[in-house]
Amino acid sequence: MKYRTNKVRKEDYPIHNWYRFVLSFPPHLVKHYLEKFELPSDSVVLDPFCGTGTSLVESRLNYYHSIGIEANPISYFASKTKLNWLFSPDELVDTAFEIAERVDQLLKEEGIDDYNLMHTNSIFLRNLPEESQKVLLKNSISPIPMHKSIALIEEITRIKDEPLKDHLLLACLNTIINNVSNLRFGPEVGVGKIKEDAALLNPWLDNVKTIAEDISSLLYGYENINYETHLGDSRMINQYLSPNSVQAVITSPPYPNEKDYSRATRLESVLLGLVRNMQEMRNIKKTFVRSNTRSVYKQDRRIELGKTSGFEKMYSKVTLQYFGGMAKHLANLRPSLTPGAKLAYVVGDQSSYFRVMIRTGQLLAEVAESLGYKVLDLELFRTRPATVSKKMLREEVLVLEYTGDNG
Ligand SMILES: C[S@@+](CC[C@H](N)C(=O)[O-])C[C@H]1O[C@@H](n2cnc3c(N)ncnc32)[C@H](O)[C@@H]1O
Repeated sequence: MKYRTNKVRKEDYPIHNWYRFVLSFPPHLVKHYLEKFELPSDSVVLDPFCGTGTSLVESRLNYYHSIGIEANPISYFASKTKLNWLFSPDELVDTAFEIAERVDQLLKEEGIDDYNLMHTNSIFLRNLPEESQKVLLKNSISPIPMHKSIALIEEITRIKDEPLKDHLLLACLNTIINNVSNLRFGPEVGVGKIKEDAALLNPWLDNVKTIAEDISSLLYGYENINYETHLGDSRMINQYLSPNSVQAVITSPPYPNEKDYSRATRLESVLLGLVRNMQEMRNIKKTFVRSNTRSVYKQDRRIELGKTSGFEKMYSKVTLQYFGGMAKHLANLRPSLTPGAKLAYVVGDQSSYFRVMIRTGQLLAEVAESLGYKVLDLELFRTRPATVSKKMLREEVLVLEYTGDNG
């Protein structure tokens, strides 16, 4: 096995750390395939499920053009922001310090001292609209941290300069999630130790300084390396791409598991106003490849309605929908690929229901082959024990080549 199974060290990967690095797949994996594919220098690398942008950023760092598609608005915002390296790092830091001073003063007038974690007894607390609060996991964030977070976000959003504003917001979201909220991330998101209060401004300024330091080394040399990001559904990927324009795909699509990708990003989605109520949350989830039983909708399962089949049927249904969605994606992708294009899909096995093993990599390989792709390899990336059966589940990289023949 070529890859380390131990934890990737965050400090080895500047930029990727700007937002939610722990949730993404490791950049060294992307680098490995960029090298292995021996791409011509002006190649375009696509990530159709780009999340917070690991493969796009890594491609750009290696001087390849990149295109990302992402269905979750907050992840789309993060990847778009992480790719924009054209702004003055000094101005970013200066603006952040000015904002921090204003917010500190405002909070003090309201009876809150963020630097010393003190507050007077009776304070008026800002909060989100009731409809938005319903989207959050209960106790995601305590009242005083919520109040301070809203104050800082409001002040940042007054800035006119888009790249500065976006980077300051990204640093702010990162701080809220990691330092200020009560959220805890295992494989799934949950609520951990309740923090009645937590410092916001200092850790935010530290995050901003990290971004500024990274940017200082990225200002030159990347001017002619293009990137685009689209908020969209990769099952209809042909809507976003020009014909014959992509030389490589490196991606980690959703796995057919019980993980609900929208749960992990609710707090920041709501804080930025990208999701304002449960209906908007549901609408966004409909654009995701169905990967868990909670995301199978009424219209998807009308055949099952009235039967007593319950979860068992849902599970087979979601598996069918997952592979159906991925098949649609792979079929619609073909016109945009140049013949000989190389593709790497990082996918994981699943056995969450009745210990029925779903060999995702193998099944996806069969789907791809039927659509005219050549399967070059199914490489083991790492293994992890299944929660119940303790059987080893494989995370694999399905390596494909587009021959130009559409099956
Ligand atoms: C395993 S994550 C990818 C993580 C990514 N490699 C990173 O570094 O952050 C899968 C991503 O696919 C997105 N997704 C799910 N269905 C999608 C669809 N139909 N079109 C585009 N993106 C989708 C999810 O929102 C999620 O961000």
